[in-house]
Amino acid sequence: MNAKNLAVLLVAAATAFLGAGEAPASGGRDLKLEPAPVKRLDTASLQRGARNFVNYCLNCHSAKYMRYNRLTDLGLTEDQIRENFVFGSAKIGDVMTVAMRPADAKAWFGAPPPDLSVISRVRGSDWLYNYLLGFYADPSSSTGWNNLVFPSVGMPHVLWELSGTPKLVTAEFADHAAASAAAVASKGLVLTEPLPGGKTAVRTIANETPGTMGDVEYRTFVADLVNYLDYMGEPVRNTRITLGLIVLIFLGVLFVFAYWLKREYWKDVH
Ligand code: HEC
Repeated sequence: MNAKNLAVLLVAAATAFLGAGEAPASGGRDLKLEPAPVKRLDTASLQRGARNFVNYCLNCHSAKYMRYNRLTDLGLTEDQIRENFVFGSAKIGDVMTVAMRPADAKAWFGAPPPDLSVISRVRGSDWLYNYLLGFYADPSSSTGWNNLVFPSVGMPHVLWELSGTPKLVTAEFADHAAASAAAVASKGLVLTEPLPGGKTAVRTIANETPGTMGDVEYRTFVADLVNYLDYMGEPVRNTRITLGLIVLIFLGVLFVFAYWLKREYWKDVH
């Protein structure tokens, strides 16, 4: 290959690379997430989240890096954990596993439910919060549900009795700028995506039929759950935050004495 061919090749590769990078910016799928209202040090919220997790998620998902007795971190006693969190033949020192075999799960749902121990490190709290709020009824899918954040997801909307039946609301705009403005103006989770005819769709989720919980109560339920998933991804983080504060206070006190000592030393020099 001579130098000219090489240059042509490099330019072509660079154009392809830049082109690929540009695509999402110029009117592609754009997801606006709602910030997750989670408070890491709120123990009551973490306790509720742990309860929600074992009741609604652990039938399909495992958390194999989390032991039940670690929940004492959250201010629960071993008796409380035994009575309210450990079901079936599991023991308090066990990790949170499920009885379902991965192969069966794959056959039933198309994809095996992943272990959720460290999912918050992969996805982050905001993604998880919006994913759980992003389900909507979709008769064309095999589970009857679909998700705005995770299209064609294999997981059904397992919390539908609490949330009610959410539906997808689509508004179409001929002008992309108007669509973006509408997306910015609307609160919460919004997906902006181009439609084949050059129009732009702005999609949101709205509740069609009410569930057993009101909207605010349900959002708190989901926020607690996400708070717990975040805790589980890094249980020692709360200790680290507290330790960090103690160290800062210690340094603050030390500074006062060090400064005082310095003034004593320099008193005679000035
Ligand atoms: C009926 C079984 C079932 C239950 C119950 C269930 N899930 Fe799932 N979940 C799945 C399946 C199956 C998938 C894989 C979906 C896929 O990849 O298409 C999944 C995927 C997920 C994912 C996406 C993981 C990723 O990043 O790919 C998250 C997060 C999740 N589930 C959280 C939860 C939470 C939180 C609960 C409890 C409220 C829960 N799930 C209850 C079956 C279930």
